[in-house]
Amino acid sequence: MKIECSAISYQYDLPGDETVIKDLSLCVNQGEKIAVIGPAGSGKTTLIQLLDALILPTKGDIFYDGISVHDLSRSKNLPSIRRRIGVLFQFPEHQFFHERAYDELSFAVKNFFPAETQEIDSRARILMERFHLDTDKLKEISPFNLSSGEKRKLALASALMTSPEVLILDEPTAGMDASGRNELIKIISSLSGTTVIVVTHNPEDFLMIADRVVGISGGSKVVDVPRDNLLDHLDEMEDSGIVPPLVLSVQRWLIDAGCKIDSIFGDMEELCRHLRGRA
Ligand SMILES: Nc1ncnc2c1ncn2[C@@H]1O[C@H](COP(=O)(O)OP(=O)(O)OP(=O)(O)O)[C@@H](O)[C@H]1O
Ligand SMILES: [Mg+2]
Repeated sequence: MKIECSAISYQYDLPGDETVIKDLSLCVNQGEKIAVIGPAGSGKTTLIQLLDALILPTKGDIFYDGISVHDLSRSKNLPSIRRRIGVLFQFPEHQFFHERAYDELSFAVKNFFPAETQEIDSRARILMERFHLDTDKLKEISPFNLSSGEKRKLALASALMTSPEVLILDEPTAGMDASGRNELIKIISSLSGTTVIVVTHNPEDFLMIADRVVGISGGSKVVDVPRDNLLDHLDEMEDSGIVPPLVLSVQRWLIDAGCKIDSIFGDMEELCRHLRGRA
C-alpha cells in the first residue's frame, strides 16, 4: 500500500494546544523501510496515530493507495485501512489485558479477520517458531509472567498475526537488553516486502535496515534522505535539534580528517572492522 501524507497538520483538541504536526508531507511506498527520528515531544507518536488513521489530520490529507482518509472516514471505511496496518505502540506490554499470552497474540487477528480457530492456530505456530516462542506454553501462561524480551516479541507477533502490508513500530527496542534488541532487529529486518516505519531514539539499531531516514523536529519534517546520503545531512539534523547517530558523527570526523570511507557503517563494530582492515 502506498501512503502519501499531503501537507498534514494536527492539533489536539485541548484549549490552548499548539499544532503538533505542521504541514508535513511524506510518501511511503510499499516495501520501504523508514526510520523516523527526532527529539522527545517532536510529534513522532502523533504521526504514527495519523498514519494508522486513529486520528485524522486537522489540515491536509493522507492518501492510502490514492484514497483520502477523510473520504474513508466519511464512508466509515477506516477499519479497511487499519486492518492492513500493524502497529506496535511504545511499551506495548503495558497494554496487555488478556489472562493468557495466546489470547493476547490472537486478539488483533480475531478482531479484524474472524477466521477459523484452526487457521489462527496454524498461523500462530508458524510465527512462534520464527520468534522462538512455544505456542502451547503461551496458551497456559499469563502474558505478565513472560520475560521482558518475550513480552515485546509477543506484542510484535500479535501485530504480525494479521500479515500487515505496513508495520509501524514506536520505539520497539526501548528498554531492552542487547540480546533482546538484536533478536527483535533480526525479526524486523527479515520482513521483506512489508513496509516498516520505525520510530526510534536508537537509530543505530535500525540504520542498516532503513532505506530512508526521516527527521522530525517541532512537528515539521526537517530531513528525509536515503540512508546512504545521511553523512551529507548531519548539520541539518544538528541545527534542528536532532542528535545524529554517534557512529555517523564519527564517520564524518574521520572523513574530515582525511580518512577515505566509501560506504556508511551502521555500527561501531562494523566501522572498527573496516578501519582495522585498512591498517
Ligand atoms: N493526547 C494528547 N493530548 C494533548 N496533547 C498531546 C497528546 N498526545 C501528545 N500530545 C502533545 O503533542 C506533542 C507531541 O507528542 P508526541 O507524543 O507525538 O511526541 P514524540 O515525538 O512521540 O515524543 P517521545 O519521543 O517522547 O515519545 C507533545 O507536546 C505532547 O505533549
Ligand atoms: Mg512518542
